[in-house]
Amino acid sequence: MKITVIGAGNVGATCANVIAHKALANQIVLVDIKEGLAEGKALDMWQTASVNIFDTRIIGVTNDYLATKDSEIVVITSGIPRKPGMSRDDLISTNAKIVKEVTEKVIRYSPDAVIIVVSNPLDVMTYAAYLAAKMHHSKVFGMAGILDAARYKSFIAEALNTSPRDVQALLLGGHGDTMVPLPRYTSVSGIPVSQLLDQEEIDRIVQKTRQGGGDLVKLIGTSAWYAPGAAAALMVEAIAHDQHRIFSICAYVSGEYGIRDLYLGVPVKLGRAGVEQVVEIELDDNEKQLLHDSACSVRRLKKILDDTNLF
Ligand code: NAI
Ligand code: 2OP
Repeated sequence: MKITVIGAGNVGATCANVIAHKALANQIVLVDIKEGLAEGKALDMWQTASVNIFDTRIIGVTNDYLATKDSEIVVITSGIPRKPGMSRDDLISTNAKIVKEVTEKVIRYSPDAVIIVVSNPLDVMTYAAYLAAKMHHSKVFGMAGILDAARYKSFIAEALNTSPRDVQALLLGGHGDTMVPLPRYTSVSGIPVSQLLDQEEIDRIVQKTRQGGGDLVKLIGTSAWYAPGAAAALMVEAIAHDQHRIFSICAYVSGEYGIRDLYLGVPVKLGRAGVEQVVEIELDDNEKQLLHDSACSVRRLKKILDDTNLF
């Protein structure tokens, strides 16, 4: 299996590193526009192979898409990240151009690849990649739900002084302040979270999750990469090993949850072919309202993308 990661910055390099450690591919190609960056990071990672015990050959290239030929999975992380005071939405016009350009180039050499978008604003950049790739929507999708759920799980585990591994949780909606963590679908080793934490604590954790990315930007001065890189690699694993895993990703909805023609976070079954199914769960009136509010906010951003006339 050959996997390409576009963007050798914080998230792309971390994602490639995790993919190598998990031995998901024979070859990883890291691509960046900045001369020498991908080559250098790939070489550094490759030199950890005998220490970290993996065989995956990692190569880096500057804008050389021929080297990505016949990739089966492509992860797109190229774009600018947030700086303090910026929202994910401020990135839209710059990143849409970058996502369009790299998608068109990579698809020329790997027309059968499955594409995972990471660049922000995620829901709209995933739509941009879908338009640029001109492929079926089951093969183009984005990473956010696993990251947001991982943050949510870490806060719950912290509050309960338990292992995050035992926390099961689901989140819906766009990757932004309107994301919808679902306490009714949250449990710890099968125990509903409502039996373990009081409502006030759950509400506090939900809010902390919504602002999780922003809080990290304030601390680091740019956006996070360890958890985002690892979350994207988990999607790569589900596809590479055809695991049919169910988790929330940024997927195309065509009527599910009463929402049409939009990319946003919904639970799906993910395997070798990409999105095998959008899973529709039962929502109460409040959850439905929150999801629809989030969809409206993603649609507003989609309008900004439409107005760029890039597609
Ligand atoms: P970074 O600045 O560290 O890396 C981005 C890389 O993309 C840079 O090395 C840059 O040279 C490269 N690049 C720019 N234009 C390119 C082009 N045309 N072709 C190839 N490479 C190009 O940024 P970081 O932290 O890695 O974040 C990347 C993106 O991922 C940002 O848009 C960020 O907001 C987003 N992100 C999304 C998350 C999610 O949950 N979906 C989580 C974290 C970050
Ligand atoms: C994050 O959630 C900024 O999307 C980025 O860390």
